[in-house]
Amino acid sequence: MGERLGFDHVTKIFETPGSDTGFVAFDDITLEAASSEFLAIVGPSGCGKSTLLKMAAGLMPPTKGKILLDGKPIFDPPPGVVYLFQQYAKSLFAWRTVIDNVMFPLEGAPRHQRGDLREMCRDYLKQVGLDGFEDSYPWQLSGGMQQRVAIARALAADPQVLLLDEPFSAVDALTRMELQTLVLQLWERRKFTAILVTHDVEEAIFLADRVAVLGAKPTALKEIIEVGLPRPRDQLTTREDPRFLKLRHHLTSLLLARNSGHVAAV
Ligand SMILES: Nc1ncnc2c1ncn2[C@@H]1O[C@H](COP(=O)(O)OP(=O)(O)OP(=O)(O)O)[C@@H](O)[C@H]1O
Ligand SMILES: [Mg+2]
Repeated sequence: MGERLGFDHVTKIFETPGSDTGFVAFDDITLEAASSEFLAIVGPSGCGKSTLLKMAAGLMPPTKGKILLDGKPIFDPPPGVVYLFQQYAKSLFAWRTVIDNVMFPLEGAPRHQRGDLREMCRDYLKQVGLDGFEDSYPWQLSGGMQQRVAIARALAADPQVLLLDEPFSAVDALTRMELQTLVLQLWERRKFTAILVTHDVEEAIFLADRVAVLGAKPTALKEIIEVGLPRPRDQLTTREDPRFLKLRHHLTSLLLARNSGHVAAV
């Protein structure tokens, strides 16, 4: 089972030159992903989604409030929390082969375990459909394949909590759907806690148990929506489900409301 990850009254203020007050990125966000839950967070570009995940990963401290892992405050990057970056191409090491990229989180392991761990990494690559590409270099692969390598590497780190920062935004629509299905299958098998940030409402509904909607600046939590669609989900039937369409309508109107100042009728 994955660990719970919570934001407890989190405020983030960035210092800005020439300003006494600084830039308030978030004001008082309280939100928790339950153990093994798939939580999505949606919000417009620049609302602070990546900042929120960086704080969850222990890469950046909140100005006020706490990040709680199973109820305990974190101060540094905790070992069980793995962050899948928005710009995955930059997160892979160009000079390492695919298998050596996936092995990276395991490099501290004792030498005598290396053979077994390498086999395990081959298996992760199989799970993400990259059988036979172990000895290729990232630059020899397509964008979607590179993201699969990044996913295999995240699995190798044995995540209790997987943080996904718009992980499919740089691939074409078809690859995006394939990768969404892949992440769902891995999540169903491994039962880590997943927090996905995205600006794509449909992606959030398709993947998540609950969707948290971030509102206008300074960003606060607008609403949390229970998805409740049956699992396993399917790219065709789930997206055609009238409940899916209703949720899409509601979430889209919430996001559009930031411009017009009111929530459109559902
Ligand atoms: N280190 C920093 N110093 C100052 N301001 C920052 C810093 N990091 C982020 N910001 C500001 O905080 C806000 C949120 O940035 P963030 O990257 O978290 O947004 P985002 O929702 O992930 O955007 P996108 O959807 O485009 O990826 C932006 O206005 C940004 O300029
Ligand atoms: Mg971002």
